[in-house]
Amino acid sequence: MDKLEMAKAHFAALVEAQLKRVENMKNDKGAVDYSTLDKIIIGCCGGDGIGPAITAEAERVLRAVLKKDVESGKIVFKQINGLTIENRIAANKAIPDDVLAELKACDIILKGPTTTPSKGDGPNIESANVAMRRELDLFANVRPVAVPEEGIDWTFFRENTEGEYALGSKGIVIDEDMSFDFKVTTTQGTERIARQAFEFARKNGKKHVAIITKANILKKTDGKFLELCYNVAKDYPEIQVDDWFVDIISANLINEKVRKGFEVFILPNLYGDIITDEAAQIQGGVGTAGSANIGNHYAMFEAIHGSAPRMVETGRAQYANPASMIKAAELLLRHIGYAKEADRVIAALNVANNTIKITGRSDGATGAEFADCVIANL
Ligand code: IPM
Ligand code: MG
Repeated sequence: MDKLEMAKAHFAALVEAQLKRVENMKNDKGAVDYSTLDKIIIGCCGGDGIGPAITAEAERVLRAVLKKDVESGKIVFKQINGLTIENRIAANKAIPDDVLAELKACDIILKGPTTTPSKGDGPNIESANVAMRRELDLFANVRPVAVPEEGIDWTFFRENTEGEYALGSKGIVIDEDMSFDFKVTTTQGTERIARQAFEFARKNGKKHVAIITKANILKKTDGKFLELCYNVAKDYPEIQVDDWFVDIISANLINEKVRKGFEVFILPNLYGDIITDEAAQIQGGVGTAGSANIGNHYAMFEAIHGSAPRMVETGRAQYANPASMIKAAELLLRHIGYAKEADRVIAALNVANNTIKITGRSDGATGAEFADCVIANL
């Protein structure tokens, strides 16, 4: 086949798959109500590197704060061990089929970091994170960042299934001189993230939502995203809305004079990825941030940092800081309707952060000592 025909066929297949995804979104009947479930199964999936160590500590905190409901059988924990880079390479799949089935048998998932092979590191397997977000349709990536002493209280609503990520592993190599990747934005995908953000703002008394795009350049995708967010905003007249380009917002977040004024952000996937790392750094580093991945049928809670394989190689996994996973556990509790327990976890986490010194090395506390302190202060 000549190059042009090959490219056309490749692109046609992508469009077809995306049209199907739009149909599925149109037929989606809305979100699960956890308060109606007799039993909530929490899947604990350690992942790679320091993941199993810090996930186990967060699970201990959850078990302690949910003790009564664990004893009554209302809350059930399940271990999902197979989401490792070794298994993914062996299956040549981002998520091996048996692991995906186990994930789907849970109501909610606590996930440790997973290693993402980048181009050149052996088999070019898609990121497990990206695959899980797609397979479980976890469309809202909610990332809170707070620095109370500076008046910063931000919540980022990152679109989690579209943009550059939807087809991130499906680009076209035309020949040795040219490659394409694709960005996709849909009406359904944009409206559902915008609605989550505005509903959150309304329920939490937030007065301001900022929409972040690069709509001056990416007119079709970001242009659509921006327009649809403003349309959704019309249903929330009490909330002030404005929009910013991603370059200037990244500058504004380090401008101490203006950054306090922001509350809720809506961002397409890739900008959300980048800006939330910047925001987490302002809070004290990516190790301090938790992240909620929410869909209508499943939700997954994780740290936003990587699996730190070097810490494991040098025998330091037990010194990894579980704070980000405990923060993820707090977000999980809130999502399944355990707001009081979530408040207890966050208060105890603050105590631990102020009393236990974790350095990532043997001169600091272990993750278990840190979690013990959280549990003792619940
Ligand atoms: C994140 C991570 C992931 C992403 C990686 C691990 C695929 O950076 O959750 O922000 O790019 O979304
Ligand atoms: Mg990221």
